[in-house]
Amino acid sequence: MCGIVGYIGEKQAYPILIKGLKRLEYRGYDSAGIAILNGELNTFKKIGKVSELEEYVKDKNINGNIGIAHTRWATHGEPNDINAHPHNSQSKNIAIIHNGIIENYSIIKDELIKRGYKFSSETDSEVLAYLIEDILKNVKNDLAEAVRIALNQVIGAYAIAVISKNEPDKLIVAKKGSPLVIGIGKGEFFIASDATPIVEYTKDVVYLNDFEFAVIKKNEELDIRTISNKRQTPYIQRLELELSQLEKGGYEHFMLKEIYEQPRSIRDCMRGRINAEEDFVILGGISDYEQKLINAKRIIIIACGTSWHAGLVGEYMLEDIARIPVEVEYASEFRYKNPIIYEDDIVIAISQSGETADTLEAIEIAKTRGATILGICNVVGSSIARATHAGSYTHAGPEIGVASTKAFTAQITILALLSLSLAQKKGTIKKSRFHQLLNELTNIPKLVEETLKTDDVILKIAKIFSNARNFLYLGRGYNFPVALEGALKLKEISYIHAEGYPAAEMKHGPIALIDQEMPTVVIATNRGTYEKVISNIQEIKARKGIIIAIVTKGDKAVKELADYVIEIPETEEMFVPLLATIPLQLLSYHIAVIRNCNVDQPRNLAKSVTVE
Ligand code: AGP
Ligand code: GLU
Repeated sequence: MCGIVGYIGEKQAYPILIKGLKRLEYRGYDSAGIAILNGELNTFKKIGKVSELEEYVKDKNINGNIGIAHTRWATHGEPNDINAHPHNSQSKNIAIIHNGIIENYSIIKDELIKRGYKFSSETDSEVLAYLIEDILKNVKNDLAEAVRIALNQVIGAYAIAVISKNEPDKLIVAKKGSPLVIGIGKGEFFIASDATPIVEYTKDVVYLNDFEFAVIKKNEELDIRTISNKRQTPYIQRLELELSQLEKGGYEHFMLKEIYEQPRSIRDCMRGRINAEEDFVILGGISDYEQKLINAKRIIIIACGTSWHAGLVGEYMLEDIARIPVEVEYASEFRYKNPIIYEDDIVIAISQSGETADTLEAIEIAKTRGATILGICNVVGSSIARATHAGSYTHAGPEIGVASTKAFTAQITILALLSLSLAQKKGTIKKSRFHQLLNELTNIPKLVEETLKTDDVILKIAKIFSNARNFLYLGRGYNFPVALEGALKLKEISYIHAEGYPAAEMKHGPIALIDQEMPTVVIATNRGTYEKVISNIQEIKARKGIIIAIVTKGDKAVKELADYVIEIPETEEMFVPLLATIPLQLLSYHIAVIRNCNVDQPRNLAKSVTVE
């Protein structure tokens, strides 16, 4: 996790770095730090948010035109001032920031301790600073060469930036596994974990590839090489990101803004991909693999967290209309279970950030076994987008709230488009039914707008239940993944324990939890297993449980039983998740706000999980 940012040029580095850290704070926020060169190498670090670092450096010397900065999500050593980055080498001549995990750090550390080095922090990252210094002293007195040699000894994942008092004209960066972008300005350069701190200065960027490092000097061309010292030609790309997308736009939190953006984000996701007149779907990014998809005997979806929930919705859709068997796997389980993968399998990796370490690793495994890997990512140019053979971007726009909202509905939208397209091409759907579904899908943004109008009702319900200690979320069929997603949203931002379950499974265990204290949120829309869900609600009521039901507008039967109802517009069963998720997002949002939780940056979490 963590965010790294750096600057080299004529400007003062500090304002650029601190602003960059604020933009990257969603990636990690337990401590932050900054190192600036101005003849001296000044390093300042502080536990807590970036604002605390800002306060701390107010009376310090932060002058200088070269600097690096970090906002941390601790993996090795608790969050405190000492473990915060940047880490200095023993002589304090070098400063390094690191995102990732150096897996063999303890072996290197023991070796360096034997040689008389004394470490100050518990982190794996500090070891790298010391190792570079040791190489500089004993092997090669050149910073870039020392970094390169050090990286050849390191096992694990990293994006790093290094500066040195003794070579004050350069900034060195390297990447393996964790993301790193270089922004190219006029004679100046910006580096960051993603493009958000860079976009206001330049739109020309280079995404570093794994095992590459760059020596960056102002007014000079970028010097990019592999860590085996092969010179690379920088591939300069133009950012499509707009600054306004990174701001709250009048909303109190990014999460709320992102929930409300969903009519637009779903529309953007479908834009150019539906030809309603001629009744077809075009997913341009994967068109080269169309025949493989049509012939696929099996699709394996790999993802984590919310993206995994979207994958489950995809399973229902693909099996339902395209009649292709689908397995949805947690990437973290898939990668370690010796999975059976056939060459004609299609593996779909779903990830908002495109940086999730477990998903990336699962992709690598599937690749080595010959499968075709497609990606569904939100962040353009991200590692997963680049590691897959082909893919479709969700185009939901930057998602900054740690709790995923609009990315989830966009992922489902892509999976719906894919299912429709495959069903049509495989002939598993009637023409008229295809037409009906496609029409309804194009109507979804409007229905989402309507669904958002339930916000007032939801706020009232949130006030009633903000002190509940447990929540149960139930749904069946397409609404089962929605129940899982509702429960995840609540626990991650409000810290209330919540479980999602298939409604019928409740009687096999969780029913024991039901009492007058525990609210159960039931997604009981009018299609599919509606009648069965009503029976499940009866079972809860018989045990004096409290029901909050998400129902289809005009519903009568559930209304009679439920204690609270939230009405959503009617739609095709397949698309209900796109609507039913929205009240659940709003419910967790309001509960978290009432409980005074940090909605956009919940405790212990980070936006992209770049460690396994
Ligand atoms: C969602 O609200 C979570 N913060 C988390 O589960 C997330 O979905 C998961 O870490 C996967 O991230 P990705 O989509 O960026 O791969
Ligand atoms: N492993 C490093 C640490 O614990 C870096 C973590 C990060 O990526 O923030 O400090």
